[in-house]
Amino acid sequence: MLTKKFITLGITGGIAAYKAAELASTLNQAGAEVHVIMTRAAQKFIRPVTFQALTGQPVHTAMFTRLTGWRVAHIDLATRSDLIVIVPATANILGKLAHGIADDLLSTTLLAATCPVLLCPAMNTGMYQNPIVQENISRLKELGYYIIEPATGWLACGQEGPGRLPALDLIFNQIKDLLMKTNEVDFQPGRSDWQGLTVMVTAGGTREPLDPIRHISNRSSGKMGYALVRAALSRGARVILISAPTAVSPPAGAKVIWVERTKEMYEQVLTHFSQADVVFKAAAVADYSPRFTANQKIKKKDEVYLLELEKTPDILFELGQRKQLHQILVGFAAETENLEENARRKLAQKNLDLIVANDVTQPGSGFGQDTNIVKIIYPDGKIISLPQMEKTALAHRILDLVLPLRVKK
Ligand code: PMT
Repeated sequence: MLTKKFITLGITGGIAAYKAAELASTLNQAGAEVHVIMTRAAQKFIRPVTFQALTGQPVHTAMFTRLTGWRVAHIDLATRSDLIVIVPATANILGKLAHGIADDLLSTTLLAATCPVLLCPAMNTGMYQNPIVQENISRLKELGYYIIEPATGWLACGQEGPGRLPALDLIFNQIKDLLMKTNEVDFQPGRSDWQGLTVMVTAGGTREPLDPIRHISNRSSGKMGYALVRAALSRGARVILISAPTAVSPPAGAKVIWVERTKEMYEQVLTHFSQADVVFKAAAVADYSPRFTANQKIKKKDEVYLLELEKTPDILFELGQRKQLHQILVGFAAETENLEENARRKLAQKNLDLIVANDVTQPGSGFGQDTNIVKIIYPDGKIISLPQMEKTALAHRILDLVLPLRVKK
């Protein structure tokens, strides 16, 4: 699965260092060539020989070892790596990286690297929540490092809270996401044609509460929106993801803002709109919301219960009104009938530059599926009908089609 991929696994000095052994083994079994760098502190928690046995490669611990010919270790590992992952990433390595400090093999390799770098912070809750650490994490995200938020739970120091190393399968999936070729289109981590652009993506299905435990929603899994986030990140864009609840985890590397209700999505989208060069509105947004939300669970009484609904704000329409000349607005249309006609109407009404229309009744298309079947419709009437394809591949096709629109403007 990861054959021919060269992965550098950096291990720093935290109690979760022992979990990196399982990750090293999983990566090795998936076919990757895994090279481990351990800091001095990491070696206090687990011995290099464990990783040597699991990866079949020598473990790198010293700065001044010659590897091949004239090349020194940190340059060699940095240039050969398809991806570097740090498990666990301590507050110390985050701080060093955020401020360009290079004083050992791992920190120098990180500074010399041009491949994607995935950081998996794990530490005591107090340390993690310290504003200095949070500032370093924000800075690293802005600089394009991929970061998986730590999990919340029991910590070795005896506290409970955020700071646990995220589940290893989550880390492994993120590594695959960053590296793996999907059906038709590579993630192309080396491709950077969206560099310098800020992309806003909305994803998931909004929830409109009826009472503290019930809501009205839809079947959006978030897969289409997240595929766009992943594709844009892999091609160099900065991504702001405004996400309603989804069935899948958001890609690392985007600035993620969670919302539930349409009203909240509306507020967040409008707040961040001025930063965006391109907006993809893949979220399935509720058109109506209960006029009243009960404070307590609604009790079963009469045979018929009448629900009064009121219209939610149309976020995309509002963006169409406010859009500046340099901004591109891409809407989605989820239709069960008259696909082209309805999509064209939305394209015009909402002042869009492009609309991606999916007939959600077709098998392999729309909500919850890994694939989609869409027609891409331009304001001049041009239509591109695409066959069934993975949402990841489709996301890249959409990016390919949107980029020239910016040049035209
Ligand atoms: O999340 P997945 O499971 O992967 O499924 C993907 C998807 C089917 C949700 C996606 O491909 C899709 O079609 N998203 C748009 C769904 C939708 O709400 O379509 P619509 O035709 O109702 O809305 C048209 C456009 O207006 C959409 O871009 C929508 O985000 C936007 N809208 C709608 C209502 C509203 N109040 N505000 C909006 O901005």
